[in-house]
Amino acid sequence: MSTTQAYIETHKDRFVSELIDLLKIPSVSANPAQAAAVRQAAQFVQAQLLAAGADRAELIETEGHPIVFGEKKVGEGLPTVLVYGHYDVQPPDPMELWDSPPFEPLIKEGKIYARGACDDKGQMYMHIKALELLVKNQELPCNVKFMIEGEEEVGSSHLAWFVQNYRAQLQADVILISDTSIIANDTPSITAGLRGLSYIQVEVTGPNRDLHSGVYGGAVANPINALCEMITALKDENNRITIPGFYDEVAELSQAERAEMGKIPFDEAAYKAALGVEALRGEKGYTPIEHVSIRPTLDVNGIWGGYTGEGSKTVLPAKAYAKISMRLVPFQSSDKITALFQQYFESIAPAGVQVKVLPHHGGEPAVTPLDSPGFRAASLAFEEVWGKKPIPKREGGSIPIVALFEKELGLKSVLMGFGLDSDNIHSPNEHYGLFNYFKGIETIARFYHHFVGLGA
Ligand code: BES
Ligand code: ZN
Repeated sequence: MSTTQAYIETHKDRFVSELIDLLKIPSVSANPAQAAAVRQAAQFVQAQLLAAGADRAELIETEGHPIVFGEKKVGEGLPTVLVYGHYDVQPPDPMELWDSPPFEPLIKEGKIYARGACDDKGQMYMHIKALELLVKNQELPCNVKFMIEGEEEVGSSHLAWFVQNYRAQLQADVILISDTSIIANDTPSITAGLRGLSYIQVEVTGPNRDLHSGVYGGAVANPINALCEMITALKDENNRITIPGFYDEVAELSQAERAEMGKIPFDEAAYKAALGVEALRGEKGYTPIEHVSIRPTLDVNGIWGGYTGEGSKTVLPAKAYAKISMRLVPFQSSDKITALFQQYFESIAPAGVQVKVLPHHGGEPAVTPLDSPGFRAASLAFEEVWGKKPIPKREGGSIPIVALFEKELGLKSVLMGFGLDSDNIHSPNEHYGLFNYFKGIETIARFYHHFVGLGA
């Protein structure tokens, strides 16, 4: 047993109980009523960084939720790893679909159930425990900095300000992030790319007030009907997005790259069964793995308007709304896609309704070169700890700050996550395997060793 494994074995119960304490804090960044809890989570992270052996850890105030910045220096000439993570979580709703309360963590069948268990408290906390074990074992081979934010789930709106104003403090050789997933516990992988995002709210207005659907229905455009028609028009029969110019910048992969991607294990029947669907529906000419990684998408995230209460009310509503997200791939630009959407959506509004397009947050896609020292160190760490070479894999989710770090700090990020797609992130019954938690701590600790060993 290595010194790393021995430390984890000795302290594993405490590693879990500390994570449970963090998971109890309802740090939902989207909910202003929970601002105090969000701050409490930041203070928890700060205290734990200090307890783990950081030289310093402070809360940096922003106009939104605070950023925790911490540091452990071991030597001037040594490389520096900058760890990024987030302590905020998604709202837990719909509450009634949770088998146990989202902020009362429960361990069941080797998994810890709670909002944020995987995304990202559990994964972020592995880094603090890896720091602890390396410091206590006197094996930390390089300098480490921590930048743990509380607004990732709401678009990281104040992180750009922080990065631009704290450039000197943030100087590092690589950024390390655990906020993604692996293919399976017997098939480790490293995330080599993430999609970008354009997120939009639309408002469709018809008559100047709600109308009786019998008295006026048939003569007056119904904004909900109009909105549904417009949404339908955004894709064609091959599930391709119809917005003119949408695909102009999309990087097409070579046949060789697609063949490589085709080797990633994927069991379509098991995938469908796990989701309770009889068929998949994606862009023609591409595989499901490609649909969720290298192809852009357009999805309605929510749609509302009119009467949705008990029973029935005969009404022709004055307004209809929808929230629409588009996941973007290299080299699409979030601002450009948002503008193309706006132009097109306004142009397809039928007579009798008015359309307002309200852009929300966005973010750019990112890719990590497989031959960078950071990626190679991550690969070696996985191979050592998991006994298998990890497969490089692009993922469908977004971490918009990855592109921001590259632009502002000139640093690439290594996306070394340990979750599983089946961990229900952003859904009821989110969970994180204890196996993944402990293996993750070990892999992170070994990453430092290999990163320094590569002479990075
Ligand atoms: N951890 C996720 C991103 C993720 C999930 C990447 C799974 C790869 C695989 C992150 O916390 C997240 O949910 N991000 C948002 C970004 C948005 C709020 C700007 C997302 O992808 O929806
Ligand atoms: Zn996350």
